[in-house]
Amino acid sequence: MELQEEVQKRKTFAIISHPDAGKTTMTEKLLLFGNLIRSAGTVKGKKSGKFATSDWMEIEKQRGISVTSSVMNFDYKGHKVNILDTPGHEDFSEDTYRTLTAVDSVVMIIDATKGIEAQTIKLFKVCKMRGIPIFTFINKLDREGREPLELLDQIEDVLNIETYPMNWPVGMGKRFLGILDRYHDQFIRFNGNEEESYIPMTEMEKEEDIFNHPTYQDTVEELELLDEAGDQFSLDRVLAGEQTPVFFGSALAPFGVQTFFDTFIDMAPAPGPRRTEEEVISPDYPDFSGFIFKIQANMNPQHRDRIAFLRVCSGRFERGMNATLARTGKSIRLGQTQQFVASSRDTVEEAYAGDIIGVYDPGSYRIGDTLIEGKKSFQYDELPQFPPEMFQRVTAKNVMKAKQFRKGIEQLVQEGAIQLFRGYPTDSMIIGAVGQLQYEVFQHRMKNEYNVEVMLESIGDRIPRWLKKEQVDPTLFDERNLLVKDREDEFLVLFKNDFALRWFIDKHPEIDLIDLYEVN
Ligand code: G4P
Repeated sequence: MELQEEVQKRKTFAIISHPDAGKTTMTEKLLLFGNLIRSAGTVKGKKSGKFATSDWMEIEKQRGISVTSSVMNFDYKGHKVNILDTPGHEDFSEDTYRTLTAVDSVVMIIDATKGIEAQTIKLFKVCKMRGIPIFTFINKLDREGREPLELLDQIEDVLNIETYPMNWPVGMGKRFLGILDRYHDQFIRFNGNEEESYIPMTEMEKEEDIFNHPTYQDTVEELELLDEAGDQFSLDRVLAGEQTPVFFGSALAPFGVQTFFDTFIDMAPAPGPRRTEEEVISPDYPDFSGFIFKIQANMNPQHRDRIAFLRVCSGRFERGMNATLARTGKSIRLGQTQQFVASSRDTVEEAYAGDIIGVYDPGSYRIGDTLIEGKKSFQYDELPQFPPEMFQRVTAKNVMKAKQFRKGIEQLVQEGAIQLFRGYPTDSMIIGAVGQLQYEVFQHRMKNEYNVEVMLESIGDRIPRWLKKEQVDPTLFDERNLLVKDREDEFLVLFKNDFALRWFIDKHPEIDLIDLYEVN
């Protein structure tokens, strides 16, 4: 069956990592495998001042970063690979989290010299919580790094996930000899600037220089211990997000990248069924359907167009087809569509479950919207809202512009670019974000699209806790622990810090504080 075959070919994933762990370097190597680029250093010229065409927005150009996740696709060994980029660090925003709702697996890159770093723990945890299969690549083995066992322990502790090392490094840094590829029963020899070589374990004795090396012998013993004491490999557990296969290597060398990618592509899940409010839709359900997980404005400053990123979940998408917007019941012709590649925006003619397409947005879409073909109507599960951590009070610089100000904020909230809270009883406007960049994009868009200059005043990082309506007593709160309402008119308190929160709990044990965003 054609539809099923197409679906089975798709591998849609995101690469997540702490900045500088090597995501760009790895992405480049994968694009080289896919023949999408010819030489490394073309994806993102961060330091060279060259900007890739994925940096659409003006603000991106100014900062030389990619604000919104771009999508890259290529054919590889009979598979259709879709890589979704997830920005980290200061360009981190809710888009980063939302991108995770559109993938079927993730590759987590960890710098062997640093281990898991604080800033990205939350991102990894969101994957774990959503049950997304996680494949780990521990990078920079050509440098002196932490002990492999220590790195595995950390992953297990922080993510509460089993690890299974697919390979095991023999030495590190200057003493790096290669990796014992447990899964394929071979040794991958590190040859410095030369290409790596593959030696079956049964023939290792012939590689005398390695075989007789004490580090090699020690590692073989270590691995034997690991075979006995460690967890067994289980693809079922990997696919359930309970075990992560761990690969060691170097994205830069490159070393171990080919084996990693081939194994990953084999194991990573094809698009699966997706939940709607009432049922589960299989990817080979004949009618086209998908949901919007991101809306990007101003990709082309001349046209001020908006592009909605849609993840196809079932059926076959064909350019020019009509689909119904489930929320309104309106029929929309999907004429202008784009597929994203790092270096160009090609027109997409057809797409299947797992593919990401960009549809032209005349202003009708919202994040989380479902588009469907056919008679049946359904709505994919709402996208989760992610915990804002930073809060700023916002006002219009010019009070005469109150109307545009409100309209702009309303639309940007609807679009999911920011989260809005209202002070109580003051009704002041407070916007929440997960990353600083969201504020910059907000300010920029308010000025460019709504012609309003906004003033932002930080009220710092805060801890949000929701209240039960019957327990709301405004006299208990002040600037320190600020009482506000969310967009559903639910009350919450923005606690100044952990100390203030604990103090309040101590003082008012009778009040229930609800953490809507608990990530465990
Ligand atoms: P990111 O996208 O996750 O932020 O990381 P990126 O790939 O840009 O890599 C960050 C730095 O780490 C780069 O060096 C890159 O060359 C280096 N790097 C990546 N993989 C490896 C590896 O396997 N081994 C070693 N030794 N280094 C690696 P940079 O000097 O900061 O940038 P550049 O001037 O080389 O671009």
